[in-house]
Amino acid sequence: MDSLLERVLLTTFRWQSRHAMRISEVDQRQPPPPPHGPISLYVHVPFCTALCPFCTFHRVPFREQASRRYFAALRDELRLYQRAGFSFGSLYVGGGTPTCAPGELVETIALARELFGMSEISVETNPTDLRHAVLEPLAAVGVRRLSVGVQSFDDRLLRAMERYDHYGASSEVVERINAAADSFPTLNVDLMYNLPSQSVASLEHDLDVVLGLRANQISFYPLMTAHSAAAKIRSTMGASGPSLVREFYGRYLARLRPAFQPQSCWCFSRTAAAIDEYVVDADDYVGIGSGAFSYLDGTLYATTFSLNHYVERVGRGLPGITGRRAFSLDHRLKNAFLTGLFGLELRKARVRGRWGDEFEERLRWALDAMRAVGAVTEDREAWRLTDRGMYLWVLMMSEFYESVNRFREAMRAAIRAELEEPDLRHGASLRPRIVS
Ligand SMILES: C[S@@+](CC[C@H](N)C(=O)[O-])C[C@H]1O[C@@H](n2cnc3c(N)ncnc32)[C@H](O)[C@@H]1O
Ligand code: SF4
Repeated sequence: MDSLLERVLLTTFRWQSRHAMRISEVDQRQPPPPPHGPISLYVHVPFCTALCPFCTFHRVPFREQASRRYFAALRDELRLYQRAGFSFGSLYVGGGTPTCAPGELVETIALARELFGMSEISVETNPTDLRHAVLEPLAAVGVRRLSVGVQSFDDRLLRAMERYDHYGASSEVVERINAAADSFPTLNVDLMYNLPSQSVASLEHDLDVVLGLRANQISFYPLMTAHSAAAKIRSTMGASGPSLVREFYGRYLARLRPAFQPQSCWCFSRTAAAIDEYVVDADDYVGIGSGAFSYLDGTLYATTFSLNHYVERVGRGLPGITGRRAFSLDHRLKNAFLTGLFGLELRKARVRGRWGDEFEERLRWALDAMRAVGAVTEDREAWRLTDRGMYLWVLMMSEFYESVNRFREAMRAAIRAELEEPDLRHGASLRPRIVS
């Protein structure tokens, strides 16, 4: 029964997610109209010192000169959005590995703070960058949450993931995390599960380590294998057996609580931790940098995946946006339902303030169906996910990210040579065509 329900839900959702990623090519001359009030800002930094075989993000090998030009373009695009009237309450710098060029990163965050005055700032990094020379300037420029990619504390799996040599053995990673814990109010550790050949004992070991770690937040993702990564994953990490997502996710839920409490379906924080508050009460966000997405007033925007094209566009005073997809009201409501409940609860007052009666009228069937299968509870104030619902939402979110990965793959396939050897010195104007 459970697996039948999952199959029906996921097939429907897969179809919807693929439909949502049908993005059309545009030559956006101005940033989109700014909304009233502050929203979130995402900045993408695609450079990594080593490329992991499983990774489906938009990333390229680190080259110092190329990274300098890229960061300068990011700063120009920040100024462009400020002139267009945008206001941002939070900043998330992701990648890639943003700390590849720490000086450039700090200069960029300092500029963002000067232009927009945001106080909630998150940065992604990898274990080898957890060192004083990187951490101290990040803390000084106002970074409040640092997120480090660990993936596993099992040395055998770290080797299979080609991370052992680049990012260190698990014992070194633990030492670095514990030493960095006092530098930021929130220190997050990313782990992955359902890896090929990962045993239940290996996962239990990860959980033992996490519970003894000084990090106060943990995000755990099921492995997502986009088409382009699948062959690399097979050759380095081995073939996948039957999915153990349900088993592994159940163990995370059972063991993380009560020391950690859920903030979303795949992010838990220690109860005593200074949890980042949401200062921004909006679903919209802007993404800048090559390969970033924005969502504004029901329209999804995609930025060019070519770093050359990105630097060239911004150099001409244009935003990096080269793709756009406007959604129907129906789709926007479904999106609000899915992303809202991914954060565990949907408060009725907020939903009614944003959508009036439309939300409940159009989505009553979905809310009732989710209640009937024990995924959602409802009271006067809110709809809330149960543990069963959290698991179903993880499956749906993974499907959604697989659709995003398919789009990334198509975009990256068109500019393979540039991505293997990023060289922005000539500013060559490569324009990957958007195929939907
Ligand atoms: C963009 S990475 C940035 C972290 C940093 N570059 C590092 O690896 O240390 C963010 C996180 O995405 C997750 N991730 C990457 N590829 C994934 C995949 N194929 N499936 C699931 N999660 C993935 C990993 O947990 C990773 O830490
Ligand atoms: S997992 Fe992190 S370090 Fe590895 S390729 Fe992806 S972004 Fe780069």
